[in-house]
Amino acid sequence: MRITVLGSGAGGGFPQWNCNCRNCAGVRDGSVRAKPRTQSSLFVRPHEGADGVLFNASPDVLEQVRSCAALQPARRLRDTAIAAVVLVDGQVDHATGLLMLRERTSPLPVWCTEAVAADLDSGLPVFGVLRHYCGVDPHAIPLDGASFTLPAVPDLTLRALPVAGKAAPYSPHRREGAPGDNIGVTITDRRRGTSAFYAPGLMEVSPPVFDAMHGADAVLVDGTFWTDDEMIRLGLSRHRARDMGHLALSGRGGMIEWLARLPPRTRRCLIHVNNTNPILDEDSPERAALAQAGIEVCEDGMEIVL
Ligand code: MLT
Ligand code: MN
Ligand code: ZN
Repeated sequence: MRITVLGSGAGGGFPQWNCNCRNCAGVRDGSVRAKPRTQSSLFVRPHEGADGVLFNASPDVLEQVRSCAALQPARRLRDTAIAAVVLVDGQVDHATGLLMLRERTSPLPVWCTEAVAADLDSGLPVFGVLRHYCGVDPHAIPLDGASFTLPAVPDLTLRALPVAGKAAPYSPHRREGAPGDNIGVTITDRRRGTSAFYAPGLMEVSPPVFDAMHGADAVLVDGTFWTDDEMIRLGLSRHRARDMGHLALSGRGGMIEWLARLPPRTRRCLIHVNNTNPILDEDSPERAALAQAGIEVCEDGMEIVL
């Protein structure tokens, strides 16, 4: 399978439009060596030239489609290589791009959990809006560990894992949370037997999450924040990474420690990187520490072939 990282940034992207933190100001004026990033999305297809699955529909999806020729195969007057969309949560950075796909000529197949579908019919009524355009062909993602396939991309098998996280702020069940507010997905190439585990939002590496990571040839996991109090220290938020549903990379029990426990051959990739994260600075000691640990930082346009 071929995984294309369409957007490697977290909500807001990098640089964020209204932010003048060291990274954002530095990438704008050239004083920080870093690459701009659009918001969180992957395109996965069984092989080059095949139609594939859009994992998360970022508000930057139109820019992402324009910069990735594979997404527009131009076989007919109206065409797309996006056969279906899978959502891992109902957050703005993952769901609002659905609205940008409204010119589609048939209902858009969208796979998400029932908890996310409920949010997209209420707090952020994207599904209701889309019904006035191409329409939505909704499918519930099973949370019982059952594998499922998308009819249009039969060579990929998917398996969802509910993960600890947060419902979106506008979710009617934000406070209590619901199973399936956040999922990780194992994507398997049925013919080759290779697999990737994708989880851009992970508050905790529970035993089932670690098992899924351990069993994959590549992991693309939450690289949002370097420290739990990153936004607080910068004076940008009152919330810790945990409060936002993200496990920090550094420190005891952080993502770097978990990644060190994976088999040596596993490709370790960080995704959904927030604009404040020092790993975006390619000359930073934090980035050097990742390189030392064999951990890659996803960039827009990066391809992983498994
Ligand atoms: C998150 O994952 O925490 C979101 O990216 C936050 C946001 O989009 O505002
Ligand atoms: Mn996000
Ligand atoms: Zn910033």
